[in-house]
Formats: sequence, structure tokens, C-alpha cells
Amino acid sequence: MSERPQIEPEASILTAVTPAGWVEDALAHLPELLQDHANCEKKAASTALALMFAYPEDRALGAALSRLAREELRHFEQVIRAMSALGVPFQRQRPGRYAQQLRRAVVTCDPARKLDLLLVAALIEARSAERFALLAPHLAPPVARLYADLAGAEARHFLLYLGFARELAPGEWRPRLAALARQEAQLATAPDETLRFHSGPLERYPQQAD
Ligand SMILES: [Fe+2]
Ligand SMILES: [Fe+2]
Repeated sequence: MSERPQIEPEASILTAVTPAGWVEDALAHLPELLQDHANCEKKAASTALALMFAYPEDRALGAALSRLAREELRHFEQVIRAMSALGVPFQRQRPGRYAQQLRRAVVTCDPARKLDLLLVAALIEARSAERFALLAPHLAPPVARLYADLAGAEARHFLLYLGFARELAPGEWRPRLAALARQEAQLATAPDETLRFHSGPLERYPQQAD
């Protein structure tokens, strides 16, 4: 059995913390946030499936991602139940800039592409874990309990993706992670047009003087 490198659970790969303004915006737009969160869980499952299709020869990755995809779909079902309990209707929403722009940073040729995909997935999971933990203390049950549980689950996922990245490219993962983490931090902290689970805080315009 191959030894997977051990990573301290508390070690974060994020290079910037979420701004307090985003937490305020998220709490002020909870229905919109829950809707985007439900979409993120579906997307997390589909990202895992896409990796399984792209690298079928990697059986260890396939087995781990099959479990992960099922877990993400259970998260989706939990968010939908919380939305129903709160009377939040399911509405179509256009995606924010975060995942789309992070994806643009991924190189197109393997084996570097596989490393990038694993690292980007690790960063997205790490950001999700951070934000669930930030929001949970401000929310009423049942969402508070759900978000506290999801903080732990997404932290596990970030460690899983990072473990595969380290195993794949022991000499390259660190500098590549540093470069991708800088872009991730910029997207998660710079003022944004729309409030999404992984967006920056909403753009604030200075008050006009009379
Ligand atoms: Fe999830
Ligand atoms: Fe996840």
C-alpha cells in the first residue's frame, strides 16, 4: 500500500482570508447564497466525475473521487432540504467569476494539467471549508448545523485532493500551488459584481457628497 503524505488538518493552503465584508454580504443575501451553494455542491460532484473520466487509469483517484462525488450529492440534497425548510425557492442563477477564472489558469497539456486540476479542486474545497466555518456561528439552525458539518467535510476534501497532487508531482506541486493560490486569493477577496459562495465582497460605491 502506498503511503499518502500526511498533512496537518489545520494547515491551510489559502493565501488570504475571506474579507469581513463578504460575510456581511452573504448573511444579507442568504437566499441567493443558498441557491449558489446548492449549485456548488452539484458542480463539486461533476468536477469529481470529470476527473474520473479524464484519468481512468488512476484507480486510487477514481475510487476516492467516486466516494467524494456521492458525498457532494448528499450535500446538495441537504442544502435543498434547508432551502425548503426556509421557504427559499429554487431559481436559476448565472455562475460567478470564481470557478470560471480559476479554470482559465489550468494548463492544457498533461501531466501538468492533472496537477493543476487537483490543486484547483483543493483550493476550492479549502475556500468552501473556510467560508462554512465563518458563516456557521451567525446562522440559525438548521443551516448553522449543516454549515458546521460541511466545514469539516470540505476540509477533508481539500486534504484528499492535495494528497493526490503531492503524490503526483513531489517536486512541482509546491510552486504551482503557490501560483494558483495567489489567483484564487485575488478572486475570493477583490470586490465583485455578484454575491456568490466563492465571490469577493460586493462592490461598494463611495457615497456621493450633496
Ligand atoms: Fe460539498
Ligand atoms: Fe467538497
